[in-house]
Amino acid sequence: MKKKITVFHVSLFCFISLSPFFSGCKVGPDVIRPELRAMNKSISIIPEPLSYRQSEGSFMINSQTCIIVDEDLKEMAERFNEIISPAWGAPLPIKINGQAKNNIIKFVIASDLNDLSDEGYQLKVTNDRIVITAAAEAGIFYGLQTVRQLLPEQIFSKQRVSGVQWEIPCVEIEDRPRFQWRGMHLDVGRHYMPMDFIKKNIDFIAMHKMNVFHWHLTEDQGWRIEIKKYPKLTQIAAWRDETLVGHVKDAKKGKAKYDGKKHGGFYTQDDIREIVEYAKQHYVTVVPEIEMPGHCQAALAAYPELSCSGGPFEVGKKWGVSREVYCAGNEKTFEFLQDVLLEVLDLFPSGYIHVGGDECPKHRWQVCEKCQGRIQSESLKDEHELQSYFIKRIETFLMAHGRNLIGWDEILEGGLAPNAAVMSWRGEKGGIAAAKAGHRVVMAPNTYTYLNFYQADRDTEPIAQGKFLPLEKVYNYDPVPVVLTEQEARYILGAQGQLWTEYIPNPKHAEYMLFPRMSALAEVVWTQKEKKDYKRFYNNLEVHLKRLDSYETNYRRLDSMSIPQKNYGNKPNNQ
Ligand code: ACM
Ligand code: ZN
Repeated sequence: MKKKITVFHVSLFCFISLSPFFSGCKVGPDVIRPELRAMNKSISIIPEPLSYRQSEGSFMINSQTCIIVDEDLKEMAERFNEIISPAWGAPLPIKINGQAKNNIIKFVIASDLNDLSDEGYQLKVTNDRIVITAAAEAGIFYGLQTVRQLLPEQIFSKQRVSGVQWEIPCVEIEDRPRFQWRGMHLDVGRHYMPMDFIKKNIDFIAMHKMNVFHWHLTEDQGWRIEIKKYPKLTQIAAWRDETLVGHVKDAKKGKAKYDGKKHGGFYTQDDIREIVEYAKQHYVTVVPEIEMPGHCQAALAAYPELSCSGGPFEVGKKWGVSREVYCAGNEKTFEFLQDVLLEVLDLFPSGYIHVGGDECPKHRWQVCEKCQGRIQSESLKDEHELQSYFIKRIETFLMAHGRNLIGWDEILEGGLAPNAAVMSWRGEKGGIAAAKAGHRVVMAPNTYTYLNFYQADRDTEPIAQGKFLPLEKVYNYDPVPVVLTEQEARYILGAQGQLWTEYIPNPKHAEYMLFPRMSALAEVVWTQKEKKDYKRFYNNLEVHLKRLDSYETNYRRLDSMSIPQKNYGNKPNNQ
């Protein structure tokens, strides 16, 4: 759409340029007046906002544009500079309580905007200024993420970019998230991921307006968090001698091959503090996961006295579910886990602590004197109730320390702990049962949210987990099951994507599995249901993928597997 230059515009231009009363931040001679430029950019924001209205014209950021905030929002202005200055080349000047009206970017907290929630925002871009208004800082932060996407995609570059006009189309946007839990999980147990990728992953989460990083820190194949009281966890449990080559299904046929290479690593407590702080600055809560009573073979390799049999064990080298689990009849197990959790609570301020609870085989408990003794002394029916006893005991401990327990949906078996939240991964059944019983739920069904599943025909893709999860199916997921009443649906906190890393050995591969499916998931958790439209999303991806290019992201290219087909996931809540 070309904008006509009228007499009015020319007079306005003269007035602004010549007026001694002109109150804007400086307008340099190199600057083309915005009102004389044509609007040449359509809007493509992922996740799609609640509403927007584009008008003619644009705002141009130049070296004299200044950010105007009051003292409380100074840090937010610095955050914006951090986001744009690598590509832009220098931070914009920040003026506290500045009075300029032109060539400014302004952030305003307005408590009467509560109907957009603390994470919502209003954004108004006119020829002269950008104004973000929100009820709370989180809303301003998400407004900034939108401004970033309104800029040319090169703004996502980590290197200085020259020759680009930093122009933003005039627009009015109102926006707020659909869900409060907008999560991404990352398994660092199967493969350790370096600190810079953990930070990049948080960047990805924040730029998609998601807000939870579920950090899966302990596994059969590796323990990744330093615990001062138990040094063998990092000396022994963090390292495996070698790793299975190829798919575990082939290994089962007696063809197991190992790579002969030691693999491991861990995050020191200082590393973890650094990540938690980095996440906080990006409005992301880090929810740590310490697996129990299963998925703990690595810990048992270091402390075999916590098992039923006494070991010895090695840190897992191949994938699958280990039968080696913590002994539920041994008081030392609870002492150990509570000590570990005390250090975890000290590091992570999150309201929820994830304790796993999934895939705990009962073979060892069935033949363990101590476990059977516990079943008797606590008048439990069977080993499922023993697992429930285990989780309830840990919940009591966490609640005494002011935290809530969350676990995978197996924690429903044998009776759910009184205040536990459930992460529903084996389809939605567990989540539905929990919501009906008045428990909070995060939807994470593997059929829609396991981003480690294949994205296309397995012959054409790197080795992955067995199922097929194309982009459109992720996009069409709706975290609120139709069988829930309105009241029950309130217990659905939101949803999250999972990245299990058995077949994902490094960050580059992780990015390939995440994108573009994580961008689809961002609309699942942020965008209002009635605004979701795969075709529109698919078209917007064209620009969004350029942003990911600028951000040096190794995403999977769009191809016939991603074009809108209406084949996937259109049935409500199918499993
Ligand atoms: C899981 O995939 N075992 C939660
Ligand atoms: Zn036992």
